[in-house]
Amino acid sequence: MEKSGTGPRLIIICGLPGSGKTTFAKVLESRLRAVRFAPDEWMDALSLSLYDEEKRGKIEVLQWKFAQGLLALGLIIIIEWGTWGRSERDTLRLGARTLGAAVELHYLSVSADELFNRIQRRGMENPPIERATLSQWFEIFQAPTSEEMALFDEPLIKDLAAGSG
Ligand SMILES: Nc1ncnc2c1ncn2[C@@H]1O[C@H](COP(=O)(O)OP(=O)(O)OP(=O)(O)O)[C@@H](O)[C@H]1O
Ligand SMILES: [Mg+2]
Repeated sequence: MEKSGTGPRLIIICGLPGSGKTTFAKVLESRLRAVRFAPDEWMDALSLSLYDEEKRGKIEVLQWKFAQGLLALGLIIIIEWGTWGRSERDTLRLGARTLGAAVELHYLSVSADELFNRIQRRGMENPPIERATLSQWFEIFQAPTSEEMALFDEPLIKDLAAGSG
């Protein structure tokens, strides 16, 4: 454990499927004693298809409501929903700030070829994600600009190689 007593903080991890959000979030979760919200895990626990976007949306609403309650109690929260859109990230950032929380944004940028390799190796989706679909996702995904990144606080831990951050 490290960095306890830093006050409420929302950590947003954004990136396309296979970019390593869950892998990174789990490390932060244990190092910062944070509470991690991952829709895939709840969907799995409820025996829902990972492709059920309506249920995913409802679970994210539920997780965000719960997360705001925990931020109000002073905890560190990790959201690893993908957050493909700028407006979605804006909503989370502003909501957390209203509660007096610090907010970090981590963007995991990985090439399409590497993403495809990782997704195939992981083998979590059924049916599997196709290469053409992945290319389409790259078109839709709104990668954070430096202007957006500047709206967030300095991360407690920048990346896994950064040790204690
Ligand atoms: N930095 C990394 N280098 C190489 N492989 C990685 C790295 N991070 C994660 N992986 C591997 O890539 C695969 C995808 O990682 P992970 O499940 O964390 O991604 P994700 O962003 O959470 O994906 P999804 O959005 O589908 O949940 C996993 O098999 C994981 O072990
Ligand atoms: Mg994941």
